[in-house]
Amino acid sequence: MIRAYTIASGKGGTGKTTVTVNLGTSLAQMGKETYIMDADIGMANLGLILGLEDVPVTLHEVLAGKASVNEAIYEGPYGVKVVPSGLSLQGFQQANPEKMRDVMRDLVSRCDFLLIDAPAGISRDGVIPLAIADEVILVVNPELSSIVDALKTKILTEVVGGHVYGAIANRGGIDQNDIIQQKMEKSLGVKLIGVIPEDANIRRAAAFKTPVVVKYPTSDAARAFKRIASQLAGVRYDEAAVSSSEGFIERFARVLFRGKK
Ligand SMILES: Nc1ncnc2c1ncn2[C@@H]1O[C@H](COP(=O)(O)OP(=O)(O)O)[C@@H](O)[C@H]1O
Ligand SMILES: [Mg+2]
Repeated sequence: MIRAYTIASGKGGTGKTTVTVNLGTSLAQMGKETYIMDADIGMANLGLILGLEDVPVTLHEVLAGKASVNEAIYEGPYGVKVVPSGLSLQGFQQANPEKMRDVMRDLVSRCDFLLIDAPAGISRDGVIPLAIADEVILVVNPELSSIVDALKTKILTEVVGGHVYGAIANRGGIDQNDIIQQKMEKSLGVKLIGVIPEDANIRRAAAFKTPVVVKYPTSDAARAFKRIASQLAGVRYDEAAVSSSEGFIERFARVLFRGKK
């Protein structure tokens, strides 16, 4: 069974951190022991979007040989385990990315799933996460430049001995999903795992430092994340159960915000 996935893309801003946090949280909610790790050690923000920016020990200290992995694990929503990176430049400079493989092996031995939030680009610390995971998931925005960047990342992954499992199209816009699917599979040569729509609830949830799957569980984006997570976990996703469990407050909020997307 595949357990360690690296979430990657050509450029920044495609939604890697958002995907890592929301898939990780969804897998944890399904009862899977799940770890998410911020391998974007230069531009760390996995901890930031979960309110873990002030923690004493991060992956930086672990990669610098100053702390053990155990000291850098924090608990997120639904019990997802989070290994954040630090925000300081000095911490980044002292971190040795070569140690990432050992950290990954250690974490994988204790969980069902490990999701690694990778940095954008083709720097040394960016390439390591592509090589060490069982599989790479590309996060692509459904536009030509993003597809071309993803293609580069796919080739790079193969060059360093990694393997691409598939692509998630994030911020699906005007195109229908089947058109997005055709574009992705034809030009990228990988299977489309799922489409996450553009959804203002993602930013709204980020303001509360809470993943959208927790804060707005019935939003379009949350449903899309849960659908993908259930695919990865091999669990059936009951869409109807999610709708009927929508409480009064969620329904009220949804009506209130309708049209503001
Ligand atoms: N599907 C989406 N709909 C709306 N906003 C999104 C969506 N995906 C990501 N965002 C927003 O886009 C920004 C970049 O996303 P992020 O996950 O940080 O990208 P990356 O980690 O690839 O740099 C964030 O502000 C995030 O809230
Ligand atoms: Mg990021």
